[in-house]
Amino acid sequence: MKDQDKVVVLDFGSQFTQLIARRVRESRIYSEIVPFDTPIEEIRKLNPKALILSGGPSSVYDDEAPIASQEIIDMDIPILGICYGMQLLGYYFGAKIKAAPKKEYGRAELTIVEDDALFDGFNGESTVWMSHADKIEELPQGFKKLGYTENSDFAAIRHIEKSIYGLQFHPEVAHTEKGSLIIENFVRKVSEIEGDWTTRVFIEDSIKDIKKRVGNEKVLCAVSGGVDSTVMAVLLNRALGENVTCVFIDTGLLRLNEAEKTMKMFSEIEGMNVQLFERKENFYSALAGISDPEAKRKAIGKTFIDVFDDIAAEFDEHKFLAQGTLYPDVIESNPVKGPSETIKSHHNVGGLPEDMKFELIEPFRELFKDEVRIVGREFGLSEEVIGRHPFPGPGLAIRCPGEVTESDLELLRSADDIFISELHKSGYYEKVWQAFAVLLPVRSVGVMGDKRTYSKVISLRSVTSVDGMTADWGRLPLELLSKISDRIINEVEGVNRVLYDISSKPPATIEWE
Ligand code: XMP
Repeated sequence: MKDQDKVVVLDFGSQFTQLIARRVRESRIYSEIVPFDTPIEEIRKLNPKALILSGGPSSVYDDEAPIASQEIIDMDIPILGICYGMQLLGYYFGAKIKAAPKKEYGRAELTIVEDDALFDGFNGESTVWMSHADKIEELPQGFKKLGYTENSDFAAIRHIEKSIYGLQFHPEVAHTEKGSLIIENFVRKVSEIEGDWTTRVFIEDSIKDIKKRVGNEKVLCAVSGGVDSTVMAVLLNRALGENVTCVFIDTGLLRLNEAEKTMKMFSEIEGMNVQLFERKENFYSALAGISDPEAKRKAIGKTFIDVFDDIAAEFDEHKFLAQGTLYPDVIESNPVKGPSETIKSHHNVGGLPEDMKFELIEPFRELFKDEVRIVGREFGLSEEVIGRHPFPGPGLAIRCPGEVTESDLELLRSADDIFISELHKSGYYEKVWQAFAVLLPVRSVGVMGDKRTYSKVISLRSVTSVDGMTADWGRLPLELLSKISDRIINEVEGVNRVLYDISSKPPATIEWE
């Protein structure tokens, strides 16, 4: 794989950098992300056939602005600068860049004014997604305009002689209607790269890499029953066979009967060695008295590490630890490979102690959930496993805003189970990306059988999404919501009101905490 023709993405800290790499992969071309300040010799060694400069939160005139070596221009390969990446091209080629009078954020109509391979199949006008504070005021030297939007005269530009392009908008996000087409045109038509990178290639390469790295050593693999860690456990099992031991910790923050269901699911996959450890009390006592969301996450993260350390001591012949960390976990938690901002600290990322005796393996660190699902399908895992909604590491604790108590967890579990089973029955489980109930820390007045009640409130949330990075609220039928609400209020004692959350991400997040 390392010898395949590839596109290198220089990361200037955008939330969307990995999406760029992903779109390139969807065009079946291998892609690699490197930090913006990678020395030019290193970039040359990678032998890229094209470069993409990501967006980023900075302004090119900030004192601390991330500026890549200008020598990338002399590499004489196609370059696509996106948003900040475009302003950087403007900076190299001496354009005037200004703070836009107002930040432009959201949809815009792009009109193409000149035919170019980059916009093949674009047909004139299409919706694009803008998110920027600066913009190019006049064309950089040697450039021409390819397209504009109402607020950006130079929304798409290219160098007259070289294949160097700048886009003010983000072709990599799903909201840019023909964004995938633009990226595919850039790699296949402009850069003329031929490639056939597929999930199968990913699996073969990962197995080879894992075998080479691990040799005959043993690997401990933390599994949660979710798609990511399950698919990862199977991948490791296929690479290393009996040398993989999976550990499943019941944190007490799981959904109804989840530990039993998960163990049963693993027992049905050939060759898996999964051991269950029940550690509810550790988590409940760590959470007692804490109500701040970040403090809760930290407490859970720390407990997880302590518990895991304890368990790991039983497996001291294991040298490696595998985790099913995905790219969105990484990007939303850590400024890795670039200066993107931290949004939430996800407990399964970056939380392991520095003196940990294990070496870490994270085979999916660069992938998105739906890509992991494709890998799982290649392994022949059932749709029931593959199609499971994502479930956060801190579990139901972040679905009980405020302090978490065991009785609240029980209540939430029952309500959540009713919601999910009705989604299954109606065929809507597969139609939404994620769905769950949240128990709100308020009580409301109701009347039941002539009696006044003063009980808890459940908020239901379902979202549609491609990768969890952005999400829209799920348009569930009103009759279905009505049925779920009736069932929850009638069957879950202690709840007298049900709400439906109609916020999108951004500006809300999927989870409440
Ligand atoms: P947010 O709430 O950040 O969630 O919009 C995006 C996706 O990530 C899941 N999530 C987590 N997953 N550990 C995880 O493994 C976590 O701490 C965590 N927090 C959120 C969330 O369920 C959604 O699918």
